[in-house]
Amino acid sequence: CGIVGVTGTKNSLSILINGLKRLEYRGYDSAGVYVNDNNGHDYLVKRPGRISNLEAALTDDVHGVSGIGHTRWATHGEPSEANAHPQYSSDKRFYLVHNGVIENYAQLKTNYLSGVHFASQTDTEVIVQLVDKFVVDGHLTTKEALLKVLKLISPDSSYAFVLMDKEQPDTLFVAKNKSPLLVGVADGYNMVGSDATSMLKQTNEFLELDDHELVIVKPDSIEIEDFDGNQKHRDTFTVDMDPNAADKGAYPYYMLKEIDEQPAVMRKIVQKYFDENGQPKIDEDLLKSMAAADHLYIVGAGTSYHAGLIGARIFEKLVGVPTSVHISSEFAYEQPLLSKKPFFIFLSQSGETADSREVLVHVNENKWPSLTITNVDKSTLSREATFTELLYAGPEIAVASTKAYTAQIAVEAVLAKALGEYMDKPAAREFDVKHQLGLVANGMQSLTDSKGIMKDLSDKYLSKTRNAFYIGRGIDWSVSLEAALKLKEISYVQAEGFASGELKHGTIALIEKGTPVIGIITQDRTAGLTRSNLEETQARGSNALTIVSRHLAQDGDNILLPDVDELLTPLLSVVPAQLLAYYTSLGKGLDVDKPRNLAKSVTVQ
Ligand code: G6P
Repeated sequence: CGIVGVTGTKNSLSILINGLKRLEYRGYDSAGVYVNDNNGHDYLVKRPGRISNLEAALTDDVHGVSGIGHTRWATHGEPSEANAHPQYSSDKRFYLVHNGVIENYAQLKTNYLSGVHFASQTDTEVIVQLVDKFVVDGHLTTKEALLKVLKLISPDSSYAFVLMDKEQPDTLFVAKNKSPLLVGVADGYNMVGSDATSMLKQTNEFLELDDHELVIVKPDSIEIEDFDGNQKHRDTFTVDMDPNAADKGAYPYYMLKEIDEQPAVMRKIVQKYFDENGQPKIDEDLLKSMAAADHLYIVGAGTSYHAGLIGARIFEKLVGVPTSVHISSEFAYEQPLLSKKPFFIFLSQSGETADSREVLVHVNENKWPSLTITNVDKSTLSREATFTELLYAGPEIAVASTKAYTAQIAVEAVLAKALGEYMDKPAAREFDVKHQLGLVANGMQSLTDSKGIMKDLSDKYLSKTRNAFYIGRGIDWSVSLEAALKLKEISYVQAEGFASGELKHGTIALIEKGTPVIGIITQDRTAGLTRSNLEETQARGSNALTIVSRHLAQDGDNILLPDVDELLTPLLSVVPAQLLAYYTSLGKGLDVDKPRNLAKSVTVQ
């Protein structure tokens, strides 16, 4: 979910709506705002569905000088007007927006709120009703009541809260645990938001909040204290980002824009990560820490996990250190037996994924060294890891990740090169990653310039199918997983990425007349074998297509990839898969950027 709050400006409502639009990537099941004119009038408007539905429901009389807003990705309770936030107390005095999950909400409800009528099924309503109870029945101040509630919330819960009290309408009561939240310092007023981009049109000056802090935000002051009442001083930091970088310009969808940006992102990574002598620029402390490890553990979710699968192969080849890759939600609760000197690499576009953060908290408790590779500077995972490296991909807005995946692979390759050279490994010395990334950028350009071909192939192979397979071996298999995920996410085709040699051991039973099977073939050593496996499916009626490095192509429908070093072929082979998914989704008339049931950044576990 995404939350935003503002106090001290008569533009509050439009600021909230703009902020929510920027946060829609965090969920878009339902949305709502509460605004107060600090003169006795207040307004609560909530709607199921997108922010545009909410906007359409705002009549001219709705206005305020302070307010809070929310865009939801449902956890407790279906997406409906009643379950949308802000949630409020029965006497309509307190209003609360919340991102996260209160694990012990049912217990709090039973223990303290018997007899209270609940208007929603949300865990959030329990919190706002409880604050009200402690104020009205317990005669506490709002701050005291909130503090008391915060102390009752179980430590495994996650929350970013912004609470408003109708009796003190210029004040935002703010607290967080695990879920992200920043305070924005604007000109003459103050803001709160789930990320910096939601406030970037108003300010680039922010205050970080730590877990277990209570913050009182007024138009001209920000007071931070811990739960024991100790005041905290915090310096502001500035974010250097063009607010327009998150606009889609002339593109119909962010996803297409982001696919097209990939060549530029590759060039940017080369520019940021190499000095004028062509040497990788990586912090020596980081290399030292990594070189001391006997095993690298890469941790990520979704597409980032898939980028880790490629990275592990590159680290093992260039550095010669065992590297394993883990799904964060699995690792957090089923930790494998670790080596003596582990080093952790967190991959996360947003830097906020709760599943990954749960692992990082555990890593920090054990004082193991870690690196976060992320697109978002100062994000939670970046702040909390020992080291950070940035992707420099620019804001990624479409829910289906594209340029962050390729940027993650490119940064992993640069890092592996730097580490391998630092450890004097010949394979790393011989690998000219800078030159190769230049070739990759050109290759990506020629692929994104061939959109007409991808559209025709999507019409021919994917537009009418219920299911599809991507197959490959080795690194091509790893790309198959990401290729299949793209298709699933945005076109709802049931797609599977498969190790091509394993097909005949069971899954081939699913192949019938017309089933699309797309072979990814970029590795000399396995090209012949994957091709045989593809032919085995054709013998059973499949419609076969290949995404193939130019020098390995044979007759048939092929999407040809320019030749680059075998380790970096994923940077090219994924691009046609992204475009095939895009055109399949578009052809079905779906919302490419906002597929059903998903959110871009998931801050609950
Ligand atoms: C969500 C998104 C995925 C993304 C995953 C990890 O589930 O829908 O596209 O890959 O989170 O996100 P992260 O920001 O950690 O890379």
